[in-house]
Amino acid sequence: TRTYVIDSIPGDGIGVDVTDVAMQCVDALAERHGFTVQWRIRDWNSDLYRKTGRMMPVDGIEQLSDGDGIYLGAVGTPDVPDDVTLWGLLIPIRREFDQYINLRPMRLLSGVVGAMPGIEELDIVVVRENVEGEYSQIGGRFGSGTDGEFAVQESVFTRKGVARAARYAADLAAERDGRLVSATKSNGIIHTMPFWDEVVAETVKEVPGVVVDKVLIDALAARLVMKPTSVRTIVASNLFGDILSDLVAGVAGSIGIAPSANLNPERRYPSMFEPVHGSAPDIAGKGIANPVGALWAAAMMLDHLGEKDASKSLTSAFEAALADGIATSDLKGSATTAEYAAEVLSRLKEPAGPQVPEAI
Ligand code: NAD
Ligand code: IPM
Ligand code: MN
Repeated sequence: TRTYVIDSIPGDGIGVDVTDVAMQCVDALAERHGFTVQWRIRDWNSDLYRKTGRMMPVDGIEQLSDGDGIYLGAVGTPDVPDDVTLWGLLIPIRREFDQYINLRPMRLLSGVVGAMPGIEELDIVVVRENVEGEYSQIGGRFGSGTDGEFAVQESVFTRKGVARAARYAADLAAERDGRLVSATKSNGIIHTMPFWDEVVAETVKEVPGVVVDKVLIDALAARLVMKPTSVRTIVASNLFGDILSDLVAGVAGSIGIAPSANLNPERRYPSMFEPVHGSAPDIAGKGIANPVGALWAAAMMLDHLGEKDASKSLTSAFEAALADGIATSDLKGSATTAEYAAEVLSRLKEPAGPQVPEAI
């Protein structure tokens, strides 16, 4: 039987709740579709940091390297600085495994209450550059305790890094409506962005049938709120893509429903799947987190593993539950995480309908 080794890192806060739901659903699907998932559960989180001074073991990356994929909940907790939790776990995984594409699809799910009023349709994929750009390690804080104290961080955009993100996004746009929106800020202020535009334009030219429309990030933010149906596929830098993906999720109802796939497209290293949201300390421990983003991310993982039918069963099950009016409080429903999960699990046992959406 087909067996996949998946490293599961529940992390902190609601990361733990939503990962638990996702693993239950994947196990149920595995049984029904005839494959096995061997979970390697990793307790790599803020508690481990408090005990050992590290978010993951020294050889953590090596431990993940022979798996078929990584599934992450979220990390971050109020009493540990975010730079410790993030630079100690999430960012090294993205970088060491060269997961240079962060794919963040969003659709208007049927039954969702709380999407932007007036929206009847929305189908957007944000292709986020995931290992360079604004998220660089060059810089820091200087002159602490003096009047001249300052902080600086250099953005680093490489031709190779921009081109491969643009290429991935253009290929995806070619399968969609042929229109790619490039998020930019090249109106004379940010030095890196004319370079971004140039490399994106050169790259997209090589993909037949795709046209690129560069849109300034500030105007794009407004357009995504006011006319979200006018955009299908977006390519964006690390920081812009981060912001836009929460924005689009908010327009579609909640950041609790947004999934993400951190991909190494060449499959030289494992890819990582996670909800877009964080550890949500404000609702952690209350049992009310929305597991849809985590489930959708799990569906993207199943698709990546080649388990297309299982992936479709999962997306259609979580959407069917929403369509039947079962939802957590972020979507104006009254279900707890466990109640919603039970509804999804029961729908996984039913045969999938004919018209099931793909994970992306
Ligand atoms: P957040 O995404 O955790 O929460 C933002 C808001 O959305 C909160 O009000 C929260 O309750 C709500 N929310 C988020 N996910 C939800 C869900 N599934 N169901 C219902 N409501 C949900 O962002 P934040 O508050 O800015 O960050 C909290 C911590 O998470 C920080 O430490 C941050 O660094 C970390 N973080 C981690 C990741 C990650 O591990 N990939 C991603 C984002 C933020
Ligand atoms: C995300 C998160 C991370 C990011 C943070 C937690 C570093 O917001 O995955 O969207 O900015 O990439
Ligand atoms: Mn984010």
